Amino acid sequence: MKAVIIGAVLCVAAAERRFPDGFKFGTATASYQIEGAWNASDKGESIWDRFVHSRPEAISDRSNGDVACDSYNNWREDIQLLEDLNVDFYRFSISWPRVLPTGFANRVSEDGARYYGDLIDALLERGIEPVVTLYHWDLPQTLQDLGGWTNPLISDWFADYARVVFDLYGDRVKTWVTINEPTVVCDIGYTGHIAPGLESEGRGSYLCTKHILLAHAKAYRLYEAEYKPQYQGQVSLTNQMMWFEPETEEDAELTELVKAISIDRYCHPIFSAAGGWPPALERYIAQKSAEEGEPRSRLPPFTQEEIELVRGSYDYLGLNHYTTRTVRRAGAGEEAGTFLFDGFQELGVVLGARPEWPTTMSHWFMVHPEGFRALLSYVKQQYGDVAIFILENGLSDAGTDLDDQPRVDYYTNYLEQVLLAMEQDGVNVVGYTAWSLMDNFEWMDGYQ
Ligand SMILES: *[C@@H]1O[C@H](CO)[C@@H](O)[C@H](O)[C@H]1NC(C)=O
Repeated sequence: MKAVIIGAVLCVAAAERRFPDGFKFGTATASYQIEGAWNASDKGESIWDRFVHSRPEAISDRSNGDVACDSYNNWREDIQLLEDLNVDFYRFSISWPRVLPTGFANRVSEDGARYYGDLIDALLERGIEPVVTLYHWDLPQTLQDLGGWTNPLISDWFADYARVVFDLYGDRVKTWVTINEPTVVCDIGYTGHIAPGLESEGRGSYLCTKHILLAHAKAYRLYEAEYKPQYQGQVSLTNQMMWFEPETEEDAELTELVKAISIDRYCHPIFSAAGGWPPALERYIAQKSAEEGEPRSRLPPFTQEEIELVRGSYDYLGLNHYTTRTVRRAGAGEEAGTFLFDGFQELGVVLGARPEWPTTMSHWFMVHPEGFRALLSYVKQQYGDVAIFILENGLSDAGTDLDDQPRVDYYTNYLEQVLLAMEQDGVNVVGYTAWSLMDNFEWMDGYQ
């Protein structure tokens, strides 16, 4: 009887709380994490192929994505899973070196082009909208050998690649994501922990930040000028945004600077009215660089022309969110730790968590649903009434228990905060993406 009453109460609550009509739900994957077939046909080597093969110890279980979910061969099963889930859309990424084996647009792989074309056609046949990411971390190794994202010419190479992909699939794909999580590409990518495995925090990472924003903007402008009039699609990028809380009131000002380096460094140039770097961060790094005896700021400036190219290069704002962390100043002699995971060396900041926040299988990831609403409100406050497309959200666990109540709770509670942000704070969220469709190669955590 009691259960029936509770059930009835929940039903009433559920009836009152629903996402608006037109709100889209989907799920996501990334090429290197699921495809396998790393050397099939004429595919080029990516920086992840090189990283896992040359530095197996960098992956916790010494595994790699050589086979992964074998989606290159089993993509029809993936589509069956998507159909069973009744999703509105499927977000997947295209492997740059699978489509362009040399990394450059001189030669398009027939097999690579056919693979994604078949996938897109099969999705559309089943009424599932393809949401396509151009870059989810698997850079052609040939381009890395020329400096990768630290080489300013890469913004043109990326636009060349984007043109090939828009030509191939622009008639069928209406939602494009240029770059997935530039903060991971540029910041964690230059701590040595993930591909390309270089250590150049605060130098290489900032060159990468500038060039990846320019690459995104050139692809956006290309679509805007040559494809949008005909196809009316939408293009943006998506970044990983943690939420940050000061550990104590004394850390409040520092926390604003953490938001500037982590969230706004990638958003302000694109989504603000003024464009360019977040001013407080630009001043901070310029001053610190001068104190360190640098002849110029380690954060490379934008020219006025570049500011205008990047500013406004969006049709929506992509946002990936997992966790909230606390912020405090590092003590005397204390190491700030790895970017994003444990701290910010640039700011002398250590990240922590409140003891009541449940932990997950990722050491940087604690569960705090309220942080999601706070983040969404912050983005609205900073960048106005932009349409926000949540392109990743989900929970990591050990994968041992298929009765995964913590994951059910995570989705329930995080989605509730999204709804509260929409209803109470007037945030314009248009879609939600669960990460991920299936267990896959989780980068440095392998299959654990
Ligand atoms: C592809 O890589 C696998 C290892 O993942 C290797 O066994 C195989 O020989 C390679 N195939 C080709 C054609 O090089």
